[in-house]
Amino acid sequence: MEIQLFVPSYRIDECLQEIRQCLEKGWTGLGYKTVEFEKAWTGYTGLPYAHFVNSATAGLHIAVDVLKKRFKWQDGDEIITTPITFVSTNHVILYENLKPVFADVDQYVCLDPEDVKRKITRKTRAVIFVGLGGNTGQYEKIVDICRQNKLALILDAAHMAGTRLHGRQVGAEADVAVFSFHAVKNLPTADGGMVCFAEGADDALARKLTWLGINKDTYSRTMGKGAYKWKYDVEEVGFKYHGNSVMAAIGLVQLKYLDHDNTYRRQLSDWYTQSLKDIEGVEIVPVYEGCESARHLYQILINNRDELLLALNEEGIYPGVHYLDNTEYSMYKYARGTCPRAAEISSKIISLPLHLRMGKKEVDLICRAIKKLMGTRWRLFLPAVKNLAERVAALAQCKDKSFRIEGKRVVLRALQSDDLQMTMGWRNQDSIRKAFIDSSVITREKHQNWWKQYQQRPNDFVFIIEGRKDSRPIGQLSLYDLNLEKRTAEFGRFMIGEADAGSKGYAQEAIDVLLSWAFNQFDLEYVYLRVRSDNAAAIRIYNKCGFTAVKTSDSITDMRLTKQQMKYFTQ
Ligand SMILES: Cc1ncc(COP(=O)(O)O)c(C=O)c1O
Repeated sequence: MEIQLFVPSYRIDECLQEIRQCLEKGWTGLGYKTVEFEKAWTGYTGLPYAHFVNSATAGLHIAVDVLKKRFKWQDGDEIITTPITFVSTNHVILYENLKPVFADVDQYVCLDPEDVKRKITRKTRAVIFVGLGGNTGQYEKIVDICRQNKLALILDAAHMAGTRLHGRQVGAEADVAVFSFHAVKNLPTADGGMVCFAEGADDALARKLTWLGINKDTYSRTMGKGAYKWKYDVEEVGFKYHGNSVMAAIGLVQLKYLDHDNTYRRQLSDWYTQSLKDIEGVEIVPVYEGCESARHLYQILINNRDELLLALNEEGIYPGVHYLDNTEYSMYKYARGTCPRAAEISSKIISLPLHLRMGKKEVDLICRAIKKLMGTRWRLFLPAVKNLAERVAALAQCKDKSFRIEGKRVVLRALQSDDLQMTMGWRNQDSIRKAFIDSSVITREKHQNWWKQYQQRPNDFVFIIEGRKDSRPIGQLSLYDLNLEKRTAEFGRFMIGEADAGSKGYAQEAIDVLLSWAFNQFDLEYVYLRVRSDNAAAIRIYNKCGFTAVKTSDSITDMRLTKQQMKYFTQ
């Protein structure tokens, strides 16, 4: 079974019936059904004006164009916007020679009101708020900020068809709200959008601008009377942005089912939440209190997002990512680094499949796949360090006194000179010494020499395992020859030195934590180790951690753990 992110559902017979009327009448263009659809939309939302356009992108452009004209904004003036959106939102600002200034997002992955306030300058003219996935986020606060600072407000409601806030449809508070009826939106046509101005004059200008600046549309002319009905003036350099009757026909049918469909989307979302809320490492993007979200998206944040995507793909499940931080795109790179939370969220966010052909069975299947992955050895979710230079820099800090890798019950910290007495004591215990390949007793002098050399070997790392609660050192383990070019390392020198800490699963967790960190942090291909073949206890633990033997002799077993094994090895 395959589960896609979005699959639109059309009431096919009803749509065909409605389209048939257009064909029979001989009217598929602007007018007729577009007029009916606009009326139906104002009836449904309670908004005073609605103009049907051929996409929300077109609607957003017209929104900015009209407001720029009305308020006499100058080229170079600024509009505050979000980096977590489809690029349409930001492109339309550039179409009008204005400057997108990015503000950071909040826990709802919508504009953070506090950062919006910080980003206001003398040149700020407007804010574009995106209700991501149908969520209102802290839209109310943005409305207040705009009023207090005399800024125009554009609501990009592409995901919000049917969203209510405190029981009311959204959009009336903004200067203009723009909805999308694109093929996979909550109200799918094939393409289309609705631009809803608060002011009649803006709506009138918009209608002109979406029909190339012509002051009379063909439909009114055809329906009008008199010898001069063919004549019109062109009063603006407008665009060909208006919607058509075939799309409006589909929209009219789909609108009847919008609330019903959104209710079902909320049901699917509730099922997701029930299953995912207790999984460690999964953070559910919350819906703002008082918001009845249209639930265009169901989004979670997880540190190993890309691994999850691949793992789900392998099971025939195809989630999506909404969106890459727009400042990552070349067009908006001037703003890179200005929205740290957005940058972080962008690397963690994933939209799970959500559409009307899914049922509880599909949600359960997806949640089971997520649980399975989260139960694997990739449990320590540190952000992957991307390029070699960053990896080298990260590596240089691994011997610092303050360096720590946190597990659930254990913490790993870098070995320091004042640990040497303790580690020598551990190493020389009979039971431990015999388990080492070199089982000789270590003298103080030998240990000191080793330490001196160790400090000069930048790619060898020894860590002390501490209990997380009491910070008591209980053992050690290491990664040697961490090779950033080949992306390999040797694991070893592992021991639980404190006898009362043995057989409690600390060893396995410590190895797990170290390997998760190393694989994630340095994008390792594999880790190898050598163990005495008679050390059955260690081999068992290594097996549990995902290592497999690649070569075995009577005395030595060579084991290896690859990236793939690491990923799919479950407890
Ligand atoms: C937030 C947002 N704004 C605008 C748009 C543009 O919508 P359309 O495809 O109808 O032009 C989209 C479409 O995905 C969107 O997600």
